[in-house]
Amino acid sequence: MRIVSVVGTRPQLIKAAALLPALRARHEEVFVDTGQHYDEAMAGTFFEELDLPRPDRALGVGGGTQAEQVARMLVGLEPILLAERPAAVLVYGDTNSTLAGALVAAKLGIPVAHVEAGLRSFDRRMPEEVNRVVTDHLSRWLFAPTPTAVANLAGEGITQGVTLVGDLMEDLAARAGPEIRGSAALGAVGEALGLDLRPGGFLFATIHRAENREPDALGAWAGLLGAVATRERPVLLPLHPGTRAALEREGVALPPDVHVVPPLGYRSSLALQLHAAAVLTDSGGVQREAAWLGTPCLVLRGTTEWVEALADSGGRMVVVGLDRERAAAELARLAPVGAAEGLAASRARDLVLRPAGAAEAIVAGLEGDREAAGT
Ligand code: UD1
Ligand code: UDP
Repeated sequence: MRIVSVVGTRPQLIKAAALLPALRARHEEVFVDTGQHYDEAMAGTFFEELDLPRPDRALGVGGGTQAEQVARMLVGLEPILLAERPAAVLVYGDTNSTLAGALVAAKLGIPVAHVEAGLRSFDRRMPEEVNRVVTDHLSRWLFAPTPTAVANLAGEGITQGVTLVGDLMEDLAARAGPEIRGSAALGAVGEALGLDLRPGGFLFATIHRAENREPDALGAWAGLLGAVATRERPVLLPLHPGTRAALEREGVALPPDVHVVPPLGYRSSLALQLHAAAVLTDSGGVQREAAWLGTPCLVLRGTTEWVEALADSGGRMVVVGLDRERAAAELARLAPVGAAEGLAASRARDLVLRPAGAAEAIVAGLEGDREAAGT
């Protein structure tokens, strides 16, 4: 089958790295990058680190308002799909690049395959929720990562073309596991950052959701991180450029024991999550990775789409929003100073990461419906 796959953001490059070897072994793939993320640390670096092929077509759309960004993608993608006339367009996740790929394909009558279908926060103020709902309703193949995602689709009347395949990011995490578990992996990241990082001796945080870039939210999470960071156990915050810009715009300064570093590579991010005392994040990808690694995780949002990760965490994952007292109390319970070092060391020692088999299941799912795709 000839497939155009569309990526554009950091997590989509990471998901593509998990799927492409299996996809390319069986199909002809045209790899299109919208350029939604464009900094070297947010995009370029992942091509090399994750062995991704250079994009066949790069749109270079960059940032902008929701409408500007999606509009530039629609205009850029249409001639590519007209020229390539693929049997399917494959999109990942819930970003504006996902929406644009699905919309252009659907308008041209090209079947859409959606990886990470069916996730819902039930909060349409989130740009991602709008993107997911529209993409799912336009898709021929809906590759759901969790049983809840399948149930969400059924709740919207979508049952045709739905396959439960597991989580593609778990496949990649399993591949990287052996490289990050030793304390040398932590030492190497610390050295590169000029920081002395000891297992269990720091908290790892990431923040980038649109809701957490609102003026009031910026102060709230900065205060939360300040409340849990100490000189002995600082917060390490690889800062998304959009969040950095929002902090600067609103004049919000981060507390002194919050160490800001540039966005990291994939393995560095995983290694820091594994060896941290705990993870604090509003990222969908990071919360699942923390769950697979067994690291305590505070979700800095009001909801999560990853209800299985929450339920299966045995209380190690907690949705705390921006409530700093709650965050401090949960950290005292899950990663108490004094015990967290030993917990981190044993977690790394006993680490077992199993692939979900999602990449193979997605490729098989696409092949199972070749006739429907007219190939
Ligand atoms: C996007 C996705 C979000 C995903 C996240 C992954 C949408 C609506 N949101 O959010 O679902 O979780 O990617 O990280 O698609 N910027 C840079 N350099 C870059 C990238 C972004 O400076 O390389 C700045 C730009 O000013 C841009 C802002 O960050 O305007 C926001 O970037 P954008 O791609 O619009 O959304 P994200 O917040 O990254
Ligand atoms: N990640 C990374 N470097 C960082 C922060 C995160 O490589 O500095 C990885 C993280 O390990 C996960 C993915 O990026 O694999 C998650 O992407 P992100 O948080 O940008 O988006 P989301 O998952 O929320 O859509």
